[in-house]
Order: sequence, then C-alpha cells, then structure tokens
Amino acid sequence: MEAELQSLKSEALAGLEQIDQIAGLEEFRVKYLGRKGEFAGLMKQLGQVDPAERPRLGQLANSVKQDIESAYEQRQAALEAGQGPVAPLCDLSLPGRVVPVGRLHPVTQIMNEVCGIFEGLGFAVAEGPDVETDFYNFEALNIPPHHPARDMHDTFYVSESVLLRTHTSPMQIRTMENQTPPLRMIAPGKVYRCDSDVTHTPMFHQVEGFLVDRKVSFADLKGVLSVFISRMFSADTPIRFRPSFFPFTEPSAEVDIGCVICHGSGCRVCKQTGWLEILGAGMIDPEVFKKVGYDPEVYTGFAFGLGIERIAMLKYGINDIRLYYENDLRFLSQF
Ligand code: PHE
Repeated sequence: MEAELQSLKSEALAGLEQIDQIAGLEEFRVKYLGRKGEFAGLMKQLGQVDPAERPRLGQLANSVKQDIESAYEQRQAALEAGQGPVAPLCDLSLPGRVVPVGRLHPVTQIMNEVCGIFEGLGFAVAEGPDVETDFYNFEALNIPPHHPARDMHDTFYVSESVLLRTHTSPMQIRTMENQTPPLRMIAPGKVYRCDSDVTHTPMFHQVEGFLVDRKVSFADLKGVLSVFISRMFSADTPIRFRPSFFPFTEPSAEVDIGCVICHGSGCRVCKQTGWLEILGAGMIDPEVFKKVGYDPEVYTGFAFGLGIERIAMLKYGINDIRLYYENDLRFLSQF
C-alpha cells in the first residue's frame, strides 16, 4: 500500500504538470481527489491492512493527499494568473527577432531643434496654409505684380491669384493682421518652388521668425540670431552679416556662419570661401507694417527666414538635398 500511495502521488503530480488550461483542472480533481477518485479508492484498502501498520500508513496517506491538494491549488492559481507552462510554448535558446525601430526624419529632427531653441527664447509657434493667395505671399510683403523679385520665387500657381507659398513670410502678415504687438513668433512649415537639383527640391521647409515691438533694433536681431547659431552649431561659430535685399525688409542681410566642415580654411562645401550662408533677415519694411495697419512710427521689428534642409545638410555634411526625399532607409536610419 505504501508503494501504491507513492506512485499515486507521483502520477498525480506529473499529470498536473500536463494541464495547461483551467478547464482541465476539474477532470483532474474528480479523477484523483473526488469521492470516487483514485485516492478515495486507496483509502478503502486502509481498513484491511495490519492494525499495527495502520497509523503510519494513515499518516502517509494524509501527507500524500495534502501534497496533491496543494500542488493542485498552486496550479490553479498559476493558470488563473495567466502563467501557463512556458517551456513547451517557446524556446528560450532561440535568437530573438530584431524589431525595427522607427526614427524621426532628419528634417523633422532639425525642425524640432530649431523651434525648440526659439521657443526657449520666448517665441510662440504659428502655422499657416501651404496654399496661399498672391496677396499674402507677395502683395502684402511689398512685392507688387511685375516686381522683379517674383522671378526669384519660381512659383507654382494654382490659379492667377492662388499659389503654393514660396516662403513662410506670408505668416508675418497673417499673424500681424490678427494680433497687436509685442509679437514674438516663429512659423515653421513647407514651402514650394519649381526647382530641382542637388541643392533644391520642389518642396522644402522653412522657419520664419519675427519680432515686433516699440524700439526694436538691428542689434536685437543680431543678438537673437547669435544665440540661435551658437546653440544650433557651437558657441564659437563665427557669424557674418552681409548686406542683401528683400522687398519686405529694410535694411536686409544674409547671414553666414564659418564653414562647419573646414572651419574657415576653404573646402568644396563652402566653395573655398570659408563661409556658409544660412538665412535671410532684416528689419521689417515700414510698407509691410502699413499693409497690416501698424503705425511704422510706433513699431519696429525684425524678421528672418531659414531653410531647414539646408541647415541639416550643413550640420550633417550631406551633399545632395534629394536624399531627404528618396525614402532610402540606409540614408534615413543614420540620423
Ligand atoms: N522669405 C525669404 C526667403 O524665403 C527669407 C526672409 C525671411 C528674408 C524674412 C528676410 C526676412 O528667401
């Protein structure tokens, strides 16, 4: 009888291991622990054993029963907690599958970085439509019909007076129309020009920035851009303002930084000049203020516009702008 008790125990415990569904537990319970089950069957035999042996066997039987019951309860708890047997379902020695991890597009990364720097300087972010009217894209920015500056823009026209914006400067007008100074804004977004080669794509990204208040000077423009450039590139990046022309700023400047590739000694990227042009800027033209109903005798302001793809090209040493838009993961996953 002792041997029978032991083998019942090991059979029951092994049987329990095989159960991987809660539904299977009841069958087990009836088979081993039920009133007519295997254990009960053995207990009937207890009456026939030698009375001297009876107490010891009775004790053994009790402990076998307890062992089976507690193993049963543990199994039940494990299955209820959703922990089925692990071993048969998955081979832990297999090498894992590599999960491809997505990344932000380099243009998005630089865009976020640029916006982050200006937000840190207290500029608010405004977004506007890609499909613009002639009024916002040109007219209100002091570029009347037939103005030669229109040639530079390679405009995609939707109709005679509707177009894809060629720059983010229309957001200066849209913002000033709806708000009163002081204003500190940046306007990031897509712009479109009918142009395509190693440094131009028909769609690219700009961030416009402008600040309007009483007594804003060119020195304020220089201060803000210096902080931006030192944070975007490095604190010791040389900066140079070159006189330029934009119809909506007066005076106007183009801003260069010391070449980030050759550090000024001359290379292909900077065309041996040691300088890289990174943005256009200037003091907002009084004619623009008049268009939005601001008194140019009271308010002054500055504006600047920078190209995101260009900044990313300089920062990462990319020589062909079209790489951004070919969706080649070998390129994109490097950032
Ligand atoms: N809108 C100009 C361009 O796209 C850049 C610019 C913005 C210049 C603001 C001056 C002031 O070329």
